[in-house]
Amino acid sequence: MKAIEASNLQKDRVSGFFMHRKRVVTDLDLSIEAGCVFGLIGPNGAGKTTTVKMLINLVRPDSGKITILGRAPNDPIVKHKIGYLPENPFFYGHLTGREFLDFAASLFGLTGRAKKDRVTEMLGLTGLMPHADKRLAAYSKGMLQRAGLAQALINDPDLLFLDEPMSGLDPIGIHDVREIVKSLKQRGKTVFLNTHLLEDVRILCDEIAVMNQGRIIKRALTADLANISIQDYFFDAIEDREAAP
Ligand SMILES: Nc1ncnc2c1ncn2[C@@H]1O[C@H](COP(=O)(O)OP(=O)(O)O)[C@@H](O)[C@H]1O
Ligand SMILES: [Mg+2]
Repeated sequence: MKAIEASNLQKDRVSGFFMHRKRVVTDLDLSIEAGCVFGLIGPNGAGKTTTVKMLINLVRPDSGKITILGRAPNDPIVKHKIGYLPENPFFYGHLTGREFLDFAASLFGLTGRAKKDRVTEMLGLTGLMPHADKRLAAYSKGMLQRAGLAQALINDPDLLFLDEPMSGLDPIGIHDVREIVKSLKQRGKTVFLNTHLLEDVRILCDEIAVMNQGRIIKRALTADLANISIQDYFFDAIEDREAAP
């Protein structure tokens, strides 16, 4: 089964005082198998975050079609089956880590013992247990990133979107997130990873696509790149594009 299918996605954004209109995603097609760890890589401004936001129904595409887990992206069932770690998550600083996760679990209808157990499990999984009762305002960037990840996993999603999950993490945090992604894969989950860290791609992804200036310009199975450096593959893709008329 396909976890994600998208065809001909297009999105314009308007910005600045002069309301300049710019196409930030152009003719984007995606087809991602369930159980796959997919990496969307590209420089800042390539359109990766906009793409994820369209897939999870936070941003409406100007045109194109999206199917998530066999359903329309705005289907409430889809909402229950996906998890999302935003690039810049917002946190209520006055909540403790435990309270924040308790709140996130409530949004998915968990109550009582099941909710408590799930929160405890997520605190353990993300290494936050020692900080569970501190306020988020006192968390470091890395601890917040872990809290964001715990939140994204609270409903045990089948499909997880991680937008630059390593940002702000120290080497231990990076290692932990990688281990979490690997364990999700072992459990048959699908992971959509936005990153500009090429090392993560090599370690985690089954399949990658390089995005630049709103377009996917190259894609590959990482197994087929075994003898090439991902860095070379990435820079070749970007240069080919820039050399094109
Ligand atoms: N809300 C917005 N309003 C206007 N322009 C935006 C908005 N969000 C993103 N953009 C523009 O869209 C382009 C793609 O951004 P983004 O999807 O965040 O790329 P990436 O995640 O690859 O860094 C950039 O040029 C960015 O400035
Ligand atoms: Mg981004």
